[in-house]
Amino acid sequence: MTEEQIRHELQAVIDPELRRSIVELDMVRSIDIREGGAVDVTVSLTTPGCPIRNHFQTAVTEAVKRVPGVSTVKVDFDVLDANQKAALAQRLGRGGLPEGSLAQVTNILCVGSGKGGVGKSTLTSNLAAALAAEGKRVGILDADVWGYSIPRMYGLGAQRPPVNAERKIVPLEAHGIAVMSIGFFVQEDAAVVWRGPMLHKALTQFLQDVAWGELDYLLIDLPPGTGDVSMTLAQLLPQAKFLIVTTPQPAAQRVARRAAEMAHKVSLEIAGVVENMAGFVTPSGERFAIFGEGGGQALADELDVPLLGKVPLTLPLREQSDNGVPLVLVEPSDPAAQAVRHTARGLIALSPVELPLIQEPTPAEPPAAPQPAGMSLPMA
Ligand SMILES: Nc1ncnc2c1ncn2[C@@H]1O[C@H](COP(=O)(O)OP(=O)(O)O)[C@@H](O)[C@H]1O
Ligand SMILES: [Mg+2]
Repeated sequence: MTEEQIRHELQAVIDPELRRSIVELDMVRSIDIREGGAVDVTVSLTTPGCPIRNHFQTAVTEAVKRVPGVSTVKVDFDVLDANQKAALAQRLGRGGLPEGSLAQVTNILCVGSGKGGVGKSTLTSNLAAALAAEGKRVGILDADVWGYSIPRMYGLGAQRPPVNAERKIVPLEAHGIAVMSIGFFVQEDAAVVWRGPMLHKALTQFLQDVAWGELDYLLIDLPPGTGDVSMTLAQLLPQAKFLIVTTPQPAAQRVARRAAEMAHKVSLEIAGVVENMAGFVTPSGERFAIFGEGGGQALADELDVPLLGKVPLTLPLREQSDNGVPLVLVEPSDPAAQAVRHTARGLIALSPVELPLIQEPTPAEPPAAPQPAGMSLPMA
């Protein structure tokens, strides 16, 4: 029995989403043949909470067992690092954007869900403001080309963004945040029928031909569902991470899981889950769990990612969205605003921090670490 033979059989294991063999995709990290015909295989996944992990478990075991002499098979999983993921994107024929397009943008975060109306745009606009309040430079790309709402939430009307000397479009700025939306280019309430190549071109332009400048975070507000826009963005931005918004109901979780499956399909890492509409908090502070409880935590556990926040329904959050100023800027003590700020801090803790080359002896304060999924939340 040789590693060669095992690798040969593993060619039959197809990633159902990427539709290629895991050997061809270079997802087989290691093969160890031990005494007595025991074989250990490590498979690298695109994201720790890969929804099709069980599929690989079974398929890899079956394939390896076909090699004569194999007694037992143990399948382990790890996660592709940034370089391996970039190589995977390359192998899938995704060149990404031309070099330099977003060179000064450190973190790209796509905010998505399985369906509309769960508060993606509300959270995107407030999260951006909360990140800015933490001292970060932030931009928002409103990629909901059919139902854009960020211009309204930021009080940006029908102004056309200017073009700079390099012929790049300059994002509009509101509350210190750079904003780009299809809404700046089309007439209000005009039906936009972007599809296929047009859509691809528009989104490419928003990333490549916009002078985003230096940003710590670029938040991308995705349209509902798991369709064309998400696929295109993932192709252009293999380095982006995905933030999944869900509501507390078990049914919503099922829908959100589809977004997770899509994230895997396009090999984007899932940064975490945010539960929105986590109870209704009345102006007097009473809380009603009108959409049930626990959906966000359950989804986060299932995907093996942190639950970054539980944002309640409050009247001011809705009112401020309609007034064009994110709530976190005008009423930071509102329970929903507090939860969004908590989420922002969790995101910052997750972001890669550049370590100094020479490690100085650390004083008492330990470095900020990603918070575990079971952390205490203001609304928990
Ligand atoms: N936590 C919340 N509290 C109050 N209203 C909310 C909350 N989240 C969303 N909304 C309201 O629900 C509606 C849908 O939210 P929106 O952000 O547009 O959803 P999506 O972008 O997912 O379609 C909006 O009117 C918004 O103001
Ligand atoms: Mg929206």
